[in-house]
Amino acid sequence: MSDVKFFSGENIPLEMHKVRMVQRVYLLPIEERAKRMAEAGYNTFLLRNKDIFLDMLTDSGVNAMSENQYAAMLQADDSYAGSETFYRLESVLQDMFNMEYFLPAHQGRACEHILSRLLVTPGSTAIMNYHFTTTKAHICTLGGQIEEIIIDEGLEINSELAFKGNLDINKLNEAIARLGRENICFVRIEAGTNLVGGQPVSMQNMREVSKICRAEGLTLVYDASLLSDNLYFIKKRDGEFKDKEIIDITREIGSLMDIIYFSARKLGAARGGGILTSNKEMFLQMREMVPLYEGFLTYGGMSVREMEAMAIGLQESLDIDIISQTPIFVEVLCRELLTKGVPVVTPPGGLGCHIDARAFCSHLSQEQYPAGALAAAFFLASGVRGMERGTLSEQRNPDGSETLAHMELLRLAFPKRVFTLSQVRYVADRLAWLYENRELIGGLIFEEEPRVLRFFFGRLKTDGNWPEKLIKKFRADFGESL
Ligand code: F0G
Repeated sequence: MSDVKFFSGENIPLEMHKVRMVQRVYLLPIEERAKRMAEAGYNTFLLRNKDIFLDMLTDSGVNAMSENQYAAMLQADDSYAGSETFYRLESVLQDMFNMEYFLPAHQGRACEHILSRLLVTPGSTAIMNYHFTTTKAHICTLGGQIEEIIIDEGLEINSELAFKGNLDINKLNEAIARLGRENICFVRIEAGTNLVGGQPVSMQNMREVSKICRAEGLTLVYDASLLSDNLYFIKKRDGEFKDKEIIDITREIGSLMDIIYFSARKLGAARGGGILTSNKEMFLQMREMVPLYEGFLTYGGMSVREMEAMAIGLQESLDIDIISQTPIFVEVLCRELLTKGVPVVTPPGGLGCHIDARAFCSHLSQEQYPAGALAAAFFLASGVRGMERGTLSEQRNPDGSETLAHMELLRLAFPKRVFTLSQVRYVADRLAWLYENRELIGGLIFEEEPRVLRFFFGRLKTDGNWPEKLIKKFRADFGESL
């Protein structure tokens, strides 16, 4: 099965857009990159953008916007209360998900804050396919806990399964019986499951989970931040939806959920977020929090320009040629890496290409943060910035021990429609070189370790002087080349 759009029978992934504005990027020599990485405490979040060649940290807030999005920004109706921009955005969202009420919030985690305050009580449990870092942090900060019920294959690096993000229905039933539904604050489905490699959830699975939640009186929450990729995979990988319109798939998802929220830094290719529901009581309770934490109800902490761009971006995310660009490039990079023997998560998901750092750095233990070490080493080898998604992104247990992540991944995210195919080839080439020299990569040790979301601004040092050895080998193999 291939998701790639072929051109004239050739194996050419075809971009359905053209580039009309560009940004100059620079590639520093490896010695300079090593210096910048050390200054950043071996944490790619602390690098400065000017020192980065290709920024594959995330697709959040850095997607290419269309000419129509920019044009819409000029029509933004700037007013504290009652902005026409809000009503335009509200009606796009109501139509898209067929839900009645919309609340704006400044980004995805702000939505998580509001709905956690609505639903989480101390000691309660939120059940979900898999957590996202900010989601878990909000639930736990309010005294709740999470339970993950992703299917077993979801945590396997390699599988043939088309929908590895699915919730395990047996585990769901078992958890409800064990915990008692009064102790479950909500059930959450994350589209395009971020931390396990951008893996999608099937419509059939959502239907089943929704049916159980309705029968048990449990609130079902949908994190639609990665909806675009998930919609693409539903259309491409599930025969039932081959000839269905994307809007109809989206509306069916809407019909299954009680609350939908999203980061518009991802969905809608702008910057912002929002919550939807048709439940009036929940809407009224959450509405009280918007002016308190976000801003007045018709902007919710967002710029009206971004809201206009979001309204257009959301409509564009219903176009298969637009939403296919990321999954196609992810697949191309994954395929190229697999031919070079580099271990990656399969099947390729959305969001980015996910390198299996545990296999890549099999000589490192999880306590040495293999995914973080690989992210730092790859920046040295290429000037490309990726993101650690492993034990470093977890939080320590109260007794100080590490929460060992299910997977140690280096995520190379694809901001939507930003990179070219030759840049993708460069990424594959440098990663293959690093794989050949993987034994040179050493571990990382925390020097400054924040208690919550430590991956954002924690600082580390290297376990031994392995960057120097890596530079030496690079120079021996590439000569004067950058
Ligand atoms: N949920 C999911 C599934 C996400 O991927 C993100 C953000 C959020 C919620 C939070 O949204 O950033 O707007 O507050 N993911 C980004 C990433 C940060 O890089 O994957 P936010």
